[in-house]
Amino acid sequence: MRRSAILGAGHYVPTKVVTNDDLAKLMPTSDEWIQQRTGIKERRYIEHDGIGASDLAVPAVKMAVERAGRDLKDVDMIVFATLSPDVTFPGSGCLLADKLGLHGVPALDVRNQCSGFLYSLSIADAWVRAGVYKNVLIVGSEVHSTGIEFSERGRDVTVLFGDGAGAALVGESPSPDRGVLSLKLHADGAGAFDLWIPAPGSRHIPRVTHEMLDQGLQYPKMNGKSVFRWATEKMPEVAEEALKDAGMTIDDIDLFVPHQANMRINQFVAMKLNLPQEKIVHNIDRYGNTTAATIPIGLSESWADGRIKEGTCILSAAFGSGYTWAGAVIRW
Ligand code: UT7
Repeated sequence: MRRSAILGAGHYVPTKVVTNDDLAKLMPTSDEWIQQRTGIKERRYIEHDGIGASDLAVPAVKMAVERAGRDLKDVDMIVFATLSPDVTFPGSGCLLADKLGLHGVPALDVRNQCSGFLYSLSIADAWVRAGVYKNVLIVGSEVHSTGIEFSERGRDVTVLFGDGAGAALVGESPSPDRGVLSLKLHADGAGAFDLWIPAPGSRHIPRVTHEMLDQGLQYPKMNGKSVFRWATEKMPEVAEEALKDAGMTIDDIDLFVPHQANMRINQFVAMKLNLPQEKIVHNIDRYGNTTAATIPIGLSESWADGRIKEGTCILSAAFGSGYTWAGAVIRW
């Protein structure tokens, strides 16, 4: 049976560091509140106007392709996950392809928020296994800093998010016992309005008005308690499902690379799964929630620091807006 594998992972974060104290100068919040509730100490923001999600993706992709021992011209498909596309349309995948000089290579955008990377991995996995494409580039990239509200009204969301990009090259696994061993995806639109941006939207005539902007409807709205409750229920559930599908138990797992929404969520999930805390990869303290980018950044950093090597058995899980959630077991 043909299996897919992540052949290489890369990441990039902008150089501008924004600490909790920096945010406290712009709105009523504090380092203590943010660290206690989320584990976040700082995040990165783009340095200036004109940098979009596709720009952050370029260095991440180059790193992933180089680490895979491949060349950019080997890429025969691009899947780009983002909730913060450069522009409403066309998709950031097309913009990225142009920046990489990959003219004529198909590009698909995925709109699955925090689960976007695992949804993209599932698409790449199916194509590689079916022999449709050989080297699928999957990207998670976000520029949140231009779309959040630096005021009391938006502070619950604003303190959480950061900018960043991660990428992976997915191709045929070098051996049948390595690669993507299982992948489970879910969605439930009943929770759609617990984390969303109301405007602009095709259901409004016109799509956006001055009144909507005055009300701040262009900014994310979140029912944090509900998201927290769903995440701590669904992430362990989908992780168990993925483990079962791979014929494994939690004891087989060397490393847990979860989505980074809140350090407390991930500690809670690990506890529910009976997974020792030292097996969890955290980067939320340095980058905040980079949505579709959190998991590939976690993979890329863990590979670089030696926590991931050939044969490492990785569990991943994500939960986010939609609601969408997903889990995967990968043997590197
Ligand atoms: O990838 C998915 C993305 N989102 C998530 O995963 C979010 C999941 N939810 C959470 O992580 C938590 O719900 C939060 C960290 C967002 C909030 O923590 P919480 O313990 O649920 O706090 P809360 O929303 O109940 O707010 C407690 C208080 C409120 O004040 P009052 O009503 O008690 O006076 C808020 O107005 O904290 C206030 N508050 C803040 N204070 C300082 C809300 N945001 C802030 C802030 N700084 N940034």
